[in-house]
Amino acid sequence: MTVAPSRAIGAPVDRVEGAEKVAGEARYAYEHDVEGAVYAAIVTSTIARGAIRAIDAGAALAVTGVLAVLTHENAGAVEGEGELAILQSPRVSYRGQIIGAVIAETYEAAREAERLVRIDYDVEEHDVVLRADHPGLYKPDKVNPSFPTDTEEGDVDRALEEAAVTVDETYTTPAEHNNAMEPHATIAIWENGGLTLYDSNQGAFRARQTIADALGLPHDRVRVISHHVGGGFGSKGLPRPHAVLAALAARLVDRPVKIAVTRQQMFTLTGYRTPTIQRVHLGAQADGTLTAIAHDVFEQTSTIAEFAEQTAVVSRMLYAAPNRRTSHRVVPLNVPTPSWMRAPGECPGMFALESAMDELAIACGIDPIELRIRNEPEIDPESGNRFSTRNLVACLREGAERFGWSERTEPGSRRDGRWLVGLGVASSTYPARRAPSTAYARAEADGTYTIRIAAADIGTGARTVLTQIAADTLGVSLESVCVEIGDSDYGQAMLAGGSMGTSSWGAAVVKACRELRTGKDEAHVDTSVDADADEPLAKHAFGAQFVEVRVNVDTCEIRVPRALGVFACGRIINPKTARSQFLGGMTMGVSMALFEETVIDPSIGGFVTQDLATYHVPVNADIEEIEATWIDEVDPHVNPMGSKGIGEIGIVGTAAAVANAVHNATGVRVRDLPVRPDRLIGRL
Ligand code: MOS
Repeated sequence: MTVAPSRAIGAPVDRVEGAEKVAGEARYAYEHDVEGAVYAAIVTSTIARGAIRAIDAGAALAVTGVLAVLTHENAGAVEGEGELAILQSPRVSYRGQIIGAVIAETYEAAREAERLVRIDYDVEEHDVVLRADHPGLYKPDKVNPSFPTDTEEGDVDRALEEAAVTVDETYTTPAEHNNAMEPHATIAIWENGGLTLYDSNQGAFRARQTIADALGLPHDRVRVISHHVGGGFGSKGLPRPHAVLAALAARLVDRPVKIAVTRQQMFTLTGYRTPTIQRVHLGAQADGTLTAIAHDVFEQTSTIAEFAEQTAVVSRMLYAAPNRRTSHRVVPLNVPTPSWMRAPGECPGMFALESAMDELAIACGIDPIELRIRNEPEIDPESGNRFSTRNLVACLREGAERFGWSERTEPGSRRDGRWLVGLGVASSTYPARRAPSTAYARAEADGTYTIRIAAADIGTGARTVLTQIAADTLGVSLESVCVEIGDSDYGQAMLAGGSMGTSSWGAAVVKACRELRTGKDEAHVDTSVDADADEPLAKHAFGAQFVEVRVNVDTCEIRVPRALGVFACGRIINPKTARSQFLGGMTMGVSMALFEETVIDPSIGGFVTQDLATYHVPVNADIEEIEATWIDEVDPHVNPMGSKGIGEIGIVGTAAAVANAVHNATGVRVRDLPVRPDRLIGRL
């Protein structure tokens, strides 16, 4: 094969399945036509802690079309423990937990009957409120996914004592929920002792292993198909309990079963971002040079599984302070288990760190961009390794130039009629990692190429960029490459998670296509066997976020008329889909800054924000001029494409940039998210 490079990498290619999606032909999990399928409605607990004393399913079973009521009394065994081990006892561990399902010939009958299932409980006292002085706080063995819980270098307390300037403040972030456009859904089909699931998830192979383990089945007896997925943000990274419920329900009635989690149920069944309480203590010389960073975090988990978020990890590597301490403490409460939400850890952690850096700049009387540049480390402060590429300073400088940073004035000094106007900045960073994956490639007789990999396109454009990567490696046109994804039968592959999807799958696709170029017609590859010959390097993406806010002096309404993100994320494989990823992340960051907050009512022990009316996610009217750009960077150390992951960095730092801009506009520092108007009332 001697073909000129197609230059498919770097082109703003439209989504290869775009037309199919626009025409409504792309099938999402729940939409598959399955012969004989029936419908299940999920029954959830109305208490936060206790036990089911009695279930009266009589009225539900009397509804026309109802086939069965599934409860812990007839569910059968589920292996393991934690969130997937549903219906194994009468215990209730949180409000909104799965305690059963009604299965019926129609969706409507299932929903109607679900309301008629009568449950009597033995109610116990619940505990649902995170506090920094909670007696149940403990030190987890590690934080998500496997970072050390605590770190300490140097003599932090002494450095803080001796510092010329200090900032010592507590920042809080609320619980927040992912609200993917496509709610979680599963169809379960038992055939010949095997199980097929059409499921909406971020990784079909991992879903298969986990669900097979929960049901005590050999892995190869389960197949998970997830061709199209309408968003996830982390909430579909691991199989959710409704997928196990679908399998149990289908086994009970011996029919294929469809389950769609309702929008309201997404607030208890699909994970959420833990609330955090973060104390950040910075020490610096008079010129702003950091001498110490201490970042101590309190957060929650549930009583049925431990999820300990890695909130403080950013403070281990971002700035060059010689003395650094980070710690994480979690308390198990009678709540659903927190889980992944776009940049878990980095995102809430950077709200605290980058707010504190803004406070330090003010305390030292220097520009916040200059403060960050002064504290730019030469090597990774945590590992001592060199950075593969680190272009934070370039992002800050480029953004300052483009955004008109030099027009920024003193806090509270710029006014336009009844509006106070301010600018804010924050850094962004996210690890650039990849994980082993397998892929298959075949040269077809008609001159086209077929690639199969259990990747997931959750709306990111993954299918499109993998097509570009394959075409580029093969040196052929995009049209001659067909990439098939979203099927666990394609073998082990990384999830769409941790911003590792394209890096991980792309490396496998490159390897498979290179084998075809040696003349083979077919290649099965596995990147787990590739030894990492590189010297140890610290690999991270970087960025800078710039925000303008306007705060109304009468109503305290906060608007974001302009936002700009400048990113350094290696080679950009597809500028069109990449820009969407950055803008999506930034939009979610503005939303985190101003709107998103899951409220728990301690009296009932549950979340009371549980739909898109009470939990506001931004609409077009909330987001005005927002732009994302990037600097030229190629990082040869992360993957063979020279790229870094881009799914999460867009949200990291945005909320701090907004809060910092609110301070610049008003002179009021808000350390608790979201920055609601009521948090400014009486303070302007
Ligand atoms: Mo992302 S929260 O790693 O799916």
